[in-house]
Order: sequence, then C-alpha cells, then structure tokens
Amino acid sequence: MSLGQVDSAPSNTHQAALRSEVNADSVLVFQGSETLFDLPNLWLRDNCPCDDCRVPQTQEKRFILSDVAADLAPESVSIDLDALTVTWPDKHCSQYPLATITELFQSNSQPLQSWPEGFVPQAYSWDEFLGDSRVTAEAIETFLRYGVILLSQAPVKEESLELLAPVLGPIRELLFDRIHNVSMEGHVYNIAHTSLGLPPHNDFASYSFPPSVQALHMLQNETPGGESIVVDGWAVLEQLRADRPDYFKSLCEFAVPFREFDENNETYAVEPMVRCDPQGHLVSFRFSNQLMQMMNPMQPGIKTFYQAYHELCLRITDRDSPARSTFKLQGGQVLLVAAHRVLHARESFQPIGKRHLQDAYFELDNVANKLVLLRRLNGLNNG
Ligand SMILES: [Fe+2]
Ligand SMILES: [Zn+2]
Repeated sequence: MSLGQVDSAPSNTHQAALRSEVNADSVLVFQGSETLFDLPNLWLRDNCPCDDCRVPQTQEKRFILSDVAADLAPESVSIDLDALTVTWPDKHCSQYPLATITELFQSNSQPLQSWPEGFVPQAYSWDEFLGDSRVTAEAIETFLRYGVILLSQAPVKEESLELLAPVLGPIRELLFDRIHNVSMEGHVYNIAHTSLGLPPHNDFASYSFPPSVQALHMLQNETPGGESIVVDGWAVLEQLRADRPDYFKSLCEFAVPFREFDENNETYAVEPMVRCDPQGHLVSFRFSNQLMQMMNPMQPGIKTFYQAYHELCLRITDRDSPARSTFKLQGGQVLLVAAHRVLHARESFQPIGKRHLQDAYFELDNVANKLVLLRRLNGLNNG
C-alpha cells in the first residue's frame, strides 16, 4: 500500500472498524472517525518485536536506529483487531500487538502521598522485615508511599546495618566511611558529631548524586533531648510551588555549591536544590544548610534565590508544619528515610549520657525493585 492508502479491518459488533494509514512521518490508526494512534516511523522501526531485532534470550533490543535512514517510511501497513503489520522498504516485516501499544498510554506516576495528621513513621520488627516476605513487601510499600519507616528490635551491635543488604540492596559506599559513626567520641567532621541541634537536611548534598536511602541505626541513646525529626521535604516543596511558583522555579534553576570534607576526604557538588522530571514531578530535594558554601554574590538570579531560600528555610524549620514528625529514636531502632524526599534532623541534647548512632546508605531503585520481586514471590500483581 502506498502513501495515503488505507487498510481496513472488519469491525466486530461492538467496535467501529480499525483503519491504518501511512502519513508523512508516521502511521495513523483510526477507529471510526477517532485517531487511536499516531506512531512515528522511527519509533515503529526501533520497536520491532521480531526475533531478528531483539536478543530473544534476554528480551533486549538488538536493532539500532543508525542502520536505517532518518526519513525511513513504511512500504505498506495493514491492521486487524489484534495487531498492526508494517512492511519496510527492505521487506523486513514488523508486527505490533495493539494491546502492547495501548499499555504504553498508562501513566505509572503516582501522586505524592502526603503524611496524615499526627503522622509518626510506621514501625516494623527487624526480624520480620528481614525474614517474612509479606512483612517486607508491606514495609517497602509504606516506605515508598511516605518515604520513611522505623525498624524496631534491631540488634544493638555495631555494623548491623550490613545485614539489611538482602532487602535494601548493596550499601552505597561513600567517602569517609562505609558505615558512618555519629557520636561525640571519635572523628568530628560534621555538626552531627556535636551535641548541637541539627536542622533538617539530607546527607551528602556534596555529591552529584546523593544517596537516595539512608538508614540511621541508634545503638545507644541515653542522653536527655536529642529527639529525632523527619520532614517531608516534597510536601513542603509542593506547598511552596502552589504559594510561590517564582520561588519554586528559582530553587529548580539556581545551582548551589555544597562541600563536605575533612583532612582525608573532599566532596563537592554544584547543583540546584530541587530537581523535577520533564513533566514537573519532583525527583529530588537537596537541602543542607551546614554544607552549603559561599557563592558569587554578583551572579544573576542570586537575589531571587535568597528570597526563595529564606522562605524555604522558614517552612523547613517550622515546628508546627504538618510535614514534620518528632519522636525519640531508641537504642535498637533504625530510621529508614527515602533521602531525596525526606529530611532528617535532631534536637540538641545534653551530653551527659551515651549516644551512638550509625548511618549507612542504600539506593531507592534497589528497594523498589525488591518489591517487584517480592510481589512475584507472594503471587501478587505488580502495580
Ligand atoms: Fe544527617
Ligand atoms: Zn524486526
């Protein structure tokens, strides 16, 4: 069939007939007078599902687009109720199940689930989290929904965070230490190693890609004060976007330097505090007052940025914010945060008893992928 010609499939009793047509740079599929699909020629060629164009054992794509011309067009198209068939000028024939195309129209982006009033992170037992796949799946679902959970009855033994790898995936190792110690005894390179209050922040803003999951394991907490705080950074940002879109825009565009260092380590990144995907959904939040560095005061946009940052600081430190939750992290508890969304903080404490916390980092992709495997194992559908 040549350009402009149409092919029709017979209609069943419920649906109007399907019709396909070769357009200038795409293939159109109609149902009655409605355009169902407008499929770019290069998209069609790139996605041929045949065994020559894929690696059948791995389902990976083998065909590469540079093997055809940019103005490639089908020689002919035909359609029936289940599939679209395209024949290319080199006689290669591609068949696309219509159901596969329709599935691509479903968005898998979830709206942000803000915390309910009086929110405190849901606690799961350490042993069940590691040993009962249904509890693990439920805990990960809660973690992905709210960005924070607690694990209780964890061993009060150093390096126990290593044991979380079967669920959370391999530790994301960073400079300084593999497992980081937070106490006033030992290596002091950060405000966390003092008894001062710690404003909400996420760790390692000084990396181009900061760790996306943080586990904070309290080994001993015998000091008065020092309550733990979590802040739903994304909820704060969504409210700011609604109230002051100009400030939100500045935070997305204005790059800020962050540095964390000691005598043996140097980490430095210059990045905007807020990142969104091309649809405008929040992807990551980077907030660390303590690691933020001095900037060129004459650079374009800095005045607006500082107004935006001031407003953001007000909201992040607001003790009455519905996006804030305060609780005491006891020895034997682990606080798990999705660190690109949820900030952590600590009240000041009186340094008259022992307080020892260990931190390790993981990646949210690995945690999310674990849930897919667990659902398969538990016989539940994904999604
Ligand atoms: Fe921290
Ligand atoms: Zn093919």
